Amino acid sequence: MISAVYQRVMGHPFVYEVVRPFVVGGVDNSPVWRVLDVGPDDVVVDVGCGTGDALNHLTQFRSFHGFDTDPIALRAAHKRAAGRERVHFEERRLEAADLERLRPARVMLSGLLHHLSDSDVLDLLSMLAKSPGLKRVATVDPTYVRGHHLSNLFARLDRGKYPRKPEGYIALAERAKFRVVHHSLIKSHPKRGRSTFAMMGLEPLTA
Ligand SMILES: C[S@@+](CC[C@H](N)C(=O)[O-])C[C@H]1O[C@@H](n2cnc3c(N)ncnc32)[C@H](O)[C@@H]1O
Repeated sequence: MISAVYQRVMGHPFVYEVVRPFVVGGVDNSPVWRVLDVGPDDVVVDVGCGTGDALNHLTQFRSFHGFDTDPIALRAAHKRAAGRERVHFEERRLEAADLERLRPARVMLSGLLHHLSDSDVLDLLSMLAKSPGLKRVATVDPTYVRGHHLSNLFARLDRGKYPRKPEGYIALAERAKFRVVHHSLIKSHPKRGRSTFAMMGLEPLTA
């Protein structure tokens, strides 16, 4: 019950977009969008798109498809997308049939993997690894790093229940048959960020 209330409060768009960045010294997802490297001809799928932060970063794409299970976050995403063409949102989990239909070249998992158990991460990544035409996946999540005491506390307090060490995220990606073409630690904001995130760029072994 307390946990459900905590999840709701922390997931509210105002808390997520105003209070959380204030506490952690700012959040800027530009680095992970640079890793995804979206071009004008790319179909983009954003799983766990939340309030549609993607639209603050993407200037070119063939079409954008955001999936999220939280109707409140998606309401904010629809508002942000007003007037943008070829932008679509679905209030549900991504399924294999979506990948068959959309054939995305680029898939963003920003702030998603730490919400999923190991077996759910493996199911999702294994499904993506088989997606026809997939070129790259990018991920970024809170992480535990020795000596980063404040950041580790933020990770522990996160509403996602599964923050991992960087090597934990990498091991899951490799088990799901991805090549890890990039991994690094970044600050939640390049100048002021007090939270450390683990970022990865992944390419299917079959590509
Ligand atoms: C930390 S937020 C990240 C939002 C956004 N991607 C960003 O970077 O600002 C995680 C989002 O993942 C969503 N989520 C969690 N599990 C999901 C799942 N299995 N499928 C789709 N969305 C999910 C949550 O509702 C939440 O909006």
